Amino acid sequence: MKKVEAIIRPEKLTIVKDSLGDAGFYGLNTTQVTGRGGQRGIVHTGRAGQSIVVDMLPKLKLEMVINDSDVEAVIDIIIQSARTGEIGDGKIFIHPVEDTIRVRTGERGNAAV
Ligand SMILES: Nc1ncnc2c1ncn2[C@@H]1O[C@H](COP(=O)(O)OP(=O)(O)OP(=O)(O)O)[C@@H](O)[C@H]1O
Ligand SMILES: [Mg+2]
Repeated sequence: MKKVEAIIRPEKLTIVKDSLGDAGFYGLNTTQVTGRGGQRGIVHTGRAGQSIVVDMLPKLKLEMVINDSDVEAVIDIIIQSARTGEIGDGKIFIHPVEDTIRVRTGERGNAAV
C-alpha cells in the first residue's frame, strides 16, 4: 500500500475528486494548507507601487491510501485533472504504508483499502 499526498490548487479539488471517483477511487482526506514551492511565493504590486511579497500560498493537501498496483493510475488522474501548465500546479509525494485496518470488519491490508 502507498499513501499518495498531493498538493494541488484549491480550485482544482472538485475536478480531481470527481476524476478519482470516476475511476473508482473514493477514500481520501483533504486539508487546507499554506505552502511554497520553487518560486518562493508571489510578488504583488501595492497601490503605492510597493512590492508585497506573499510567501505562503493557500493550497490543498489531498491524501489517499491505495494499493501498489493503482499508484501510476492515480498519479495520472491527478496530473491530468490538476494541471494548468502554470507554475504552482502542485506536487505529488508517494509514501509507503505499513498496513490498513477497516474498523468495522477488522479486515487488513489491500482488502481494507
Ligand atoms: N519540496 C516540497 N516539499 C513539500 N511541499 C512542497 C514542496 N514543493 C512544493 N510543495 C508544496 O506544493 C505547493 C505547490 O508547489 P509548486 O507547484 O509551486 O512547486 P514548484 O516546485 O515550485 O513547481 P513549479 O515550478 O511548477 O511551480 C507549494 O505551495 C507547497 O505547498
Ligand atoms: Mg512553484
